[in-house]
Amino acid sequence: MTEAVAAQDEQTPYERVGGGAAVKVVVDRFYELVLADETLAPYFTDSDLTNLKRHQVQLISHLLDGPVSYEGRELRDAHAGLAITPEAYARVTEHLVGVLVDAGVPDDIIASLGGTLGAVEPEIVAPQN
Ligand code: HEM
Repeated sequence: MTEAVAAQDEQTPYERVGGGAAVKVVVDRFYELVLADETLAPYFTDSDLTNLKRHQVQLISHLLDGPVSYEGRELRDAHAGLAITPEAYARVTEHLVGVLVDAGVPDDIIASLGGTLGAVEPEIVAPQN
């Protein structure tokens, strides 16, 4: 088999997790847990959840090499002024990884998303003084 044909056989992470429907299930469950977490819910009091979920689905789909563009704000702008602590960041990350595990997402994909979550933390957590 030529390399080109082999490449066509390879699925993207987006396809491997089950595509858009699967990402949407993950994101819905993720925000259920976040909003049920009394240390996290107050951050979301003024949020437009429909928009937030739509953008989160787009972002995760994009990170999984899906055919989807992210139309939300830069992460730094979206979280500015929310005074997000490192503890809150860790809890949100735990909820997301937990949902991915429960959804049966393969370990290599979770590890790759986890790397991205670590990399964007400085854009989301408020500067600590
Ligand atoms: C773990 C990594 C995180 C990612 C990848 C992420 C991603 C996003 C995305 C894509 C949006 C939508 C932006 C838009 O609609 O323009 C958003 C908004 C938001 N995020 Fe995060 N987020 C993360 C962590 C957190 C944490 C730790 C908190 C608070 C504890 C948080 C609180 C919020 C809030 C309140 C909004 C809505 C802001 C608004 O309505 O103006 N996020 N986030």
